[in-house]
Amino acid sequence: MSIGNRVYRKGLKSILSLSSTSWIDRFSDELLRIRVSIQEILRQREARGQFIVLPEIFSTKGEKLVRSILESNAPWDGIEVPRCDIPGMLTDSEKKYYCYITAFYSGWGEIVELGPWLGLSTFFVGSSLLTNSNFIDRKLYVFDDFTWRTSWMDKWLVGTDIVSPGNHASFQQIFESQLGDLMKNIIVERRKICDYDGNEDLPTLDWHGGPIELLVVDCGRSLAVNDAWWTIFSSRFVPDKTLIIMQDWQNHKRVPEVYWENTKIFTDSKGQQLDLIHEVKNAGIATFLYRGASNA
Ligand SMILES: C[S@@+](CC[C@H](N)C(=O)[O-])C[C@H]1O[C@@H](n2cnc3c(N)ncnc32)[C@H](O)[C@@H]1O
Repeated sequence: MSIGNRVYRKGLKSILSLSSTSWIDRFSDELLRIRVSIQEILRQREARGQFIVLPEIFSTKGEKLVRSILESNAPWDGIEVPRCDIPGMLTDSEKKYYCYITAFYSGWGEIVELGPWLGLSTFFVGSSLLTNSNFIDRKLYVFDDFTWRTSWMDKWLVGTDIVSPGNHASFQQIFESQLGDLMKNIIVERRKICDYDGNEDLPTLDWHGGPIELLVVDCGRSLAVNDAWWTIFSSRFVPDKTLIIMQDWQNHKRVPEVYWENTKIFTDSKGQQLDLIHEVKNAGIATFLYRGASNA
């Protein structure tokens, strides 16, 4: 047995002989944190190595799309964002990121958002698209089951003048009123992506539109919901062109682990079809370039 192996076994033995299970839990959480940090370093190193070349995609400002994984000086850091009072779940870095990535919309495909809740993400995606000349005469497609869940939604209303619609009631009206004039540029439908807590009787989302250029996903972290949107949209993804922004991808780093945080399990399951190009620091967002087969 090698020395390393002996030290490992001795360490493991002494941990398991500890009488306090809470100490063992803390230790195992610490190991998990270390694993998450190592994975972050490896992803960042790989991105800096530029081993997989990105296709040439340019923004309306002539900026080239580059890989950026948890960098402190990311291309979106200096962006100034408009003020917005819609309640929601975005960090400042995420607001900047939405303003940045929408400048790469070139108009060859559709732009779709899944899970806008009250519309904070929709505001940043939609208002920055209005400054993009490729968006003229186009629409942002937005889908949500708009089914209120008091258990985790009510707390976000504290300090606002919005009244909770009540468990399982529709909140589509609140979404539309929050967005005001921007609704002229949005096509919104109340649809379920898969069954989830109160939405069972709604029609399931079905996509009959054109190819997808930009897909913004913020409709949950379970494998079921991610597999569901993949099934609905992936036949309309275009290799080396479609960008998929997963708002909560980084939630897989949560310690202690929880069984429904499946974002990384989901993207790993797609293998080389999903190429990680952005991981936003101080945020949950990760963006993938579709590298799968052409479905045309
Ligand atoms: C975390 S919230 C989105 C937050 C929002 N993007 C923001 O900027 O504040 C998730 C949204 O996904 C919706 N959602 C969750 N599961 C869904 C499903 N299976 N089908 C349709 N919508 C769903 C919820 O109703 C909710 O509006």
